[in-house]
Amino acid sequence: MKPIKYIFMKNKIIVITGGATGIGLAIVKELITHNTVVSLDRNASKIAALKTAVPEITSITADVTSEEDLSKAMDAIEKLYGKIDLLINNAGKGSQFDFVNTSEKKLMENMEMEIAINYLAPVQLTKKALPLLQKSTEPVVVVISSGLAYVPMAFLGTYCASKAAVHFVTMSMRHQLANLKIRVVEVLPPVVDTELSKEATIAKMPPDKFAKLFLEKLEKGENVMNIGQTAGLEKFSRFLPKTAFKMLNKRGN
Ligand SMILES: NC(=O)c1ccc[n+]([C@@H]2O[C@H](COP(=O)([O-])OP(=O)(O)OC[C@H]3O[C@@H](n4cnc5c(N)ncnc54)[C@H](OP(=O)(O)O)[C@@H]3O)[C@@H](O)[C@H]2O)c1
Repeated sequence: MKPIKYIFMKNKIIVITGGATGIGLAIVKELITHNTVVSLDRNASKIAALKTAVPEITSITADVTSEEDLSKAMDAIEKLYGKIDLLINNAGKGSQFDFVNTSEKKLMENMEMEIAINYLAPVQLTKKALPLLQKSTEPVVVVISSGLAYVPMAFLGTYCASKAAVHFVTMSMRHQLANLKIRVVEVLPPVVDTELSKEATIAKMPPDKFAKLFLEKLEKGENVMNIGQTAGLEKFSRFLPKTAFKMLNKRGN
């Protein structure tokens, strides 16, 4: 791919969650040259690797499901930079869903974890970041959901449900934050080659390609980004929902 001509994404204060690996790391690497990037991560060894790979990063240790960690992170960013131009809610987790064979305890633990990380955390962090976003002249909030917010894969049942939840709340946040002139962007990735998709046996998009496609669309001003195979999935889900479900699950019911 050709290098992106950055006009909008220059000299910005950017905050990303889960920037230490996968899609987040690819976005960090693409943005770090022309911007200040702060990454919120909880895993010490991943943070160490991030600092080695991207020495210019500002790293803050935070679990996105901890209200206290998020408050401390916002305080630190306020002291360091006084504003946020771009907030990227990227951190996510998924677990296998086997409704019949998983114990009730494990099923509920997985579901609570996915709801906390994939749905509640982006909403809570965006709420906490509002005062700092309002200090920016062109504030943007990004939520990375999933193409599976349109059509569920049965073996990822609770993950897809958490992504559908964040998909809908992002539409509501976009509508309401327009009054504050805050742009809200939703990115719906296809299968991207990261730790999260390691069990998937289908073709995967490389994370650096995904990051470039996302940032090109961000530069163009798109607010709903159906990237790669998600574009087709979105159309099928609207016009042929049963076929879409069948395609993903090999069975129609
Ligand atoms: N890869 C795909 O095929 C795909 C497709 C659609 C959507 N997505 C979405 O894209 C986003 C990025 O995922 P990825 O594929 O890049 O997976 P990844 O490589 O596993 O990256 C996710 C990052 O989030 C971090 N994280 C998870 N929970 C966290 C928490 N509570 N606090 C702080 N950090 C946390 C993880 O680190 P630790 O867990 O070690 O803390 C990890 O560094 C996710 O929202 C995912 O759902 C991915």
